[in-house]
Amino acid sequence: MSIKANETIKIAPSILSADFSKMGEEVKNLEDSGADVIHCDVMDGVFVNNITFGIKMVEDLRKITKLPLDCHLMIVHPEKYAERFVKAGADYVTVHAEACGEGLEDTLKLIKNAGAKCGAVINPDTPVSAIEKVLPLCDMALVMSVFPGFGGQKFIAEVLEKVRKIREIIRENNLNCEVEIDGGINAETVKAAKEAGANVIVAGSSVFKAADRAAAISALRFGDFK
Ligand code: DX5
Ligand code: ZN
Repeated sequence: MSIKANETIKIAPSILSADFSKMGEEVKNLEDSGADVIHCDVMDGVFVNNITFGIKMVEDLRKITKLPLDCHLMIVHPEKYAERFVKAGADYVTVHAEACGEGLEDTLKLIKNAGAKCGAVINPDTPVSAIEKVLPLCDMALVMSVFPGFGGQKFIAEVLEKVRKIREIIRENNLNCEVEIDGGINAETVKAAKEAGANVIVAGSSVFKAADRAAAISALRFGDFK
């Protein structure tokens, strides 16, 4: 079940792979290279084994770009911080089902009420059933295609089955929810991801390592899109 024309492809480069010493220039460069969304990987060193940046980064990036900021919170107790990310200027805030547990629905509502789009994320070993109930609330469902924490990992193709299932649920119930995929996406792996029904494509290393970022973004957007 591939995506339809009305499910627009959005390319969301992850600034996890950027040079943090010149983040403003990096984001400007992504904008000039045709990015649709800026994916901000927030890691706390507890939910994942890595630490990146937080609210202040989002606040400062908000001043220099008009592109939507997609904040992927890889933190414990996302309910404590989600609202502050929205206030800082996040357009999307996505939270992990594994981090929220029973509080997932309330955290999604909190994000919505604060004025941003909300999304639920599942790790490669978390089933769709962990978020199925909250999909009607979600503006986005994010399927991790690597275990979160680091860029540059290998794409786990087995998660495509979950992308297909989520897209099917969205179609059947006429939900207004985008499907995002994150991890190990390059010009090759993107084809199967789109085919399965993902329309928001996160890519870190494949964009940042490319000699020509505009060409890399364009390849992700148009490669094999039927
Ligand atoms: C992983 C992050 C991803 C990561 C993707 O924890 O959520 O967004 O930056 O990087 P690549 O595209 O290099 O796998
Ligand atoms: Zn991410």
